Amino acid sequence: MGRYARIMVEPPGPKAREMVVQDSRYVATSTKILPVAAAHAHGGVVTDVDGNDFLDFSSGMAVLNLGHTHPRVVQAVKEQADRLIHFAGTDFYYAAQVELARRLGNLAPGDQDRKVFFSNSGTESVEAAMKLARWNTGRKQFVAFLGCFHGRSLGSLSLTASKPVQRERFFPTVPGVVHMPYAYCYRCAYGMEPSSCWMHCARVLEDVYFTTLLPPEEVAALFIEPVQGEGGYIVPPREFIQEIAAICRRHGILLVDDEIQAGMGRTGRMWAIEHYDVIPDIMCTAKALGSGVPIAATIFSRRLDMSTGAHSTTYGGNLLACAASLATLDIIEEGRLAERASRLGNYLHRRLLELQERHDMIGDVRGLGLMQAIELVKDRQSKAHAVAERDRAIELAFKRGAILLPAGRSTIRFVPPLIVEEDFLDEGVDILDGVLGDVVRS
Ligand SMILES: Cc1ncc(COP(=O)(O)O)c(C=O)c1O
Repeated sequence: MGRYARIMVEPPGPKAREMVVQDSRYVATSTKILPVAAAHAHGGVVTDVDGNDFLDFSSGMAVLNLGHTHPRVVQAVKEQADRLIHFAGTDFYYAAQVELARRLGNLAPGDQDRKVFFSNSGTESVEAAMKLARWNTGRKQFVAFLGCFHGRSLGSLSLTASKPVQRERFFPTVPGVVHMPYAYCYRCAYGMEPSSCWMHCARVLEDVYFTTLLPPEEVAALFIEPVQGEGGYIVPPREFIQEIAAICRRHGILLVDDEIQAGMGRTGRMWAIEHYDVIPDIMCTAKALGSGVPIAATIFSRRLDMSTGAHSTTYGGNLLACAASLATLDIIEEGRLAERASRLGNYLHRRLLELQERHDMIGDVRGLGLMQAIELVKDRQSKAHAVAERDRAIELAFKRGAILLPAGRSTIRFVPPLIVEEDFLDEGVDILDGVLGDVVRS
């Protein structure tokens, strides 16, 4: 038993198992990963219905950058609930929405004036970006990346190319999306060194796509994750993103930066794109924006606004969500949480590199800030993905009190809240150390 994890009954315990049964009876099949049945949670620790405490390395799917139930967020939501819960901010007016839009606009990189479209989820913020791009450019086509994840509603799903299961039986998706390779330097098919390889992936767009199948003057926008999330926590070289941005500029293509998983301080900057010195035309943020109260924002250069009636959603920028979000921004800025994420991320990265020295199965350690990952391989030579081993490791870690998430083909990701301490990270790494030994032995 560690300082944080406390396993009283082997998980899933009897109450959790019963919840799984009831859930599968009444709740639509979704993307369940582990049988963690949460009762309550605070900071980085989730307590399940059987009284087990888990280290939460998932942050509720990269949402709880401030940890669970941050007292200032709870307070802000309670106070707002007493005054006014909902008043259709898309149709009427209230101050919290104006204030949040102003602050997000100011926080966006670059000094251009921005506006914000509020919605409720990542996928909706991407839909808004797609519509903004078509409406403003009069162009129909989009470019996205292989391995990318931008959501699951039909528009954003047309961009998503993370796993076939996400698209299976949903074709035809929205026509007009062309996918290109992301910067797969870390497992370059040609065995090139990252320092020289990135150019090949980026140049494909202008040198091959634009000269063979895709007239650039018909491309409205290019969507990019500055760190590929679901695709396996891939951090591209700085030059890759800069080259892509330069190509977009040359051809009048809007650059849409998907910060839904990587934003809000997680990578060591407020927005991950800031690591690359690139200024996007449109930014999508959601997940951590409301610390668990659903809210999303599409932040765009003011010259791109659409006419009244072109796009709207009833709950977008709901008052409870705005209150949670304003409190979240205060806490991130006052607590310098982005800097903290950078420091803790470096620490976790070093700990994972130490683990790699002990376990041949760890083929790669990568990440930015507190968005870290290890990739499990059959052997380091072939880099063949150790998928079953990865799944087993996540299952065993859960039984020992750590909630870890998969990503990509055989990657385990670490997305803990930004407010945890080093000893929290140590405890998770120690659990994983024991687990990987057991996976090899079995
Ligand atoms: C980078 C990225 N974009 C978009 C989405 C979709 O967000 P949501 O699930 O809120 O629709 C996700 C969700 O994981 C994501 O990681």
